[in-house]
Amino acid sequence: MIEKKINHVAIIMDGNGRWAKSKGLLRLEGHRKGVENVRKVVDKARELGIRYITLYAFSAENWDRPQSEVTGLMTLLKTFLKSERKNLVKKQVRLLTIGDTSKLPEGAKKELIKTKDATAGFTNHNLILALNYGARQELEFAVKKIAEKVLDHKIVLNDIDYSIIKQELYTQDIPDPELVIRTSGEHRLSNFLLLQTAYSEFYFTPIFWPEFNENEFEKAIDSYKGRERRFGKTGDQIQKAIIKE
Ligand code: IPE
Ligand code: IPE
Ligand code: MG
Repeated sequence: MIEKKINHVAIIMDGNGRWAKSKGLLRLEGHRKGVENVRKVVDKARELGIRYITLYAFSAENWDRPQSEVTGLMTLLKTFLKSERKNLVKKQVRLLTIGDTSKLPEGAKKELIKTKDATAGFTNHNLILALNYGARQELEFAVKKIAEKVLDHKIVLNDIDYSIIKQELYTQDIPDPELVIRTSGEHRLSNFLLLQTAYSEFYFTPIFWPEFNENEFEKAIDSYKGRERRFGKTGDQIQKAIIKE
């Protein structure tokens, strides 16, 4: 059988709070433990030849959490960006973001710019952090940009198709994820990459994010490899195309 190519895996890292609670720890301890996992999974993805890995780190709705948790998460983000810089450079992984990062606290923003700048030349491997990301907000932003282009007579109404919309998304230069993983037993997207996941495969696991290790990641990839992606066609059509390859 031909190995199914996988270029982009997106992960909804969920369950830090419940993991902490189950251990009698504070929620922030769960987040801290969760951050430790990021490096493991990024390294594994690299080893498996997966060029893009997107991690849902902070949603546009996560600002509504208690102030102390939001502050704790932002501090963890800042520390992560600073401490991981060297490692990302060493491993030649480029850091990218999706979401409205202009709303992040100054300290985190500063580290983000530094880490992005330090890794900008490494295009083979990409770590994409979704920060203050919301798919509906992304679409609102894109629609405004397109309307502006129409008003400025740069395009006409009939030019608008998905390729025009895609150009205005945060993910304009990033391929769609073949696989989306969500940990912690929840089965929802929570405003994550609604358009880009139109034909993605989904993998749900009850494991909380702090316990999702390299092995669990490989299990998800194996599950993906066993699937048949049909994109609207029949199974027979897909099998015939595979034989032709
Ligand atoms: C995911 O874990 C991390 C973020 C959303 C920032 P949660 O904090 O959502 O953990 P649970 O879902 O409350 O267990
Ligand atoms: C989604 O998790 C956001 C991140 C993983 C960053 P949430 O825990 O915020 O999602 P809901 O609220 O349970 O849907
Ligand atoms: Mg959650």
